[in-house]
Amino acid sequence: MTDRLLEGRTAIITGAGRGLGKSMAEGLAAYGAKIALVDLEEDILAAAVSDVEAAGGQGCALPVTCDVTDRDRAEAAIQTTIDTFGGFDILINDAAMGPQFFTDNFTADTPKFWEVDIDLWHRVLTVNAHGPQLMSTVSAPHLLDSGWGRIINVTTSLDTMYLKGCGAYGPSKAALEANTRIMAQDLDGTGVTANVLIPGGPANTRMIPEATGFDREELVQPGAMQAPICWLCSTDADDINNMRFIAALWDESLPPQERIAAAGAPIAWAQIGSIAKRPSSWADAER
Ligand SMILES: NC(=O)c1ccc[n+]([C@@H]2O[C@H](COP(=O)([O-])OP(=O)(O)OC[C@H]3O[C@@H](n4cnc5c(N)ncnc54)[C@H](O)[C@@H]3O)[C@@H](O)[C@H]2O)c1
Repeated sequence: MTDRLLEGRTAIITGAGRGLGKSMAEGLAAYGAKIALVDLEEDILAAAVSDVEAAGGQGCALPVTCDVTDRDRAEAAIQTTIDTFGGFDILINDAAMGPQFFTDNFTADTPKFWEVDIDLWHRVLTVNAHGPQLMSTVSAPHLLDSGWGRIINVTTSLDTMYLKGCGAYGPSKAALEANTRIMAQDLDGTGVTANVLIPGGPANTRMIPEATGFDREELVQPGAMQAPICWLCSTDADDINNMRFIAALWDESLPPQERIAAAGAPIAWAQIGSIAKRPSSWADAER
C-alpha cells in the first residue's frame, strides 16, 4: 500500500490502550488515519497516545476514557471523536476481557464451569459481546450517513470459542462472531461493511499470561494485525463484507486475490450451519 493511504479517515478503536488494539492504531496512524483510542484507564491511554503519535504524527491520536458497556460513555466517545476530527469512518471493536480472568494457564488444570464466578462470567459476556453491539449501534447512523464505513470486530479462532477453562471468553467471542454476520447482512449494499479480524493463535499480549509457559517468540506478534487492518480499512477492501481474516496467515508478498484466499473465509460457520426443517413460506434467503 502507498504511504498516507488512509489520510482523511478516522478510526475509533476500543481496547487501544495496549496489545493488539494499540498495534492496529499504530498501523492505521502510520498510513495517515486519525485515531480515537478508547480504553478504561487514562494512564494507559496517555502512553498509547505517545506511541501512536510516534507512528502517525502529533495530533493524530485522541485518548478517550470509556467503558464500552456504558451507553452514555459510548455516545460521548463517538461525539468527542466527531467534534475533534470532524467525523469518523471506522469502528474497530477490539476491547475484551480475556481467558486470564478465569485462569492463569488454560493449558493446565482449569476451573470447571460450575466453579466459575457467575458474576464474572456475566461481566465478560457483557464486555465482549454486548460492548461491540453497543458501540456498533451508536456508530451505525454516523457511518450510514456518510455512505462509507467499516465495522471490524476482533473475535478469536473458532476452536478457542469452546476452549475449556476460559469461562465466558469463548462463548462471548462466538456471540460476537455470529453478530458480525448479522451486521454484515444488514449493512449489505450501504457502503459500510462488517468483517472479522483475528490474530490466528495466542498473541504476545497480557491476554496470554507468562504462566502458560509459551515461548513468547512463537506467539503471534501484535504487529501481525497491522497489514490486514490497514488493507481492510482501505478502499481496496470496499467489496469485502461478511468475511473473517486471520492475521497470522496474511501474506503481503502474495497478489491480493491469493492473499485474501489464504487468510480469509466467510464469517462464522455458515458452511456447516443449516436449519433442518424450514416452513415453506420462509424464503430460502441468502444468509
Ligand atoms: N491475545 C490473544 O492471544 C488473542 C487471541 C485471539 C483474539 N484476541 C482478541 O484480540 C483483542 C485484543 O486482545 P489483546 O490480546 O490485545 O488484549 P489486552 O488485554 O492486551 O487488551 C485489551 C484491552 O481492552 C481493554 N478493555 C477491557 N475491557 C474494556 C471495557 N469494558 N471498555 C473499554 N476497554 C476495555 C483493556 O483495558 C485492554 O487495554 C481482544 O478482543 C481479544 O479477545 C486476542
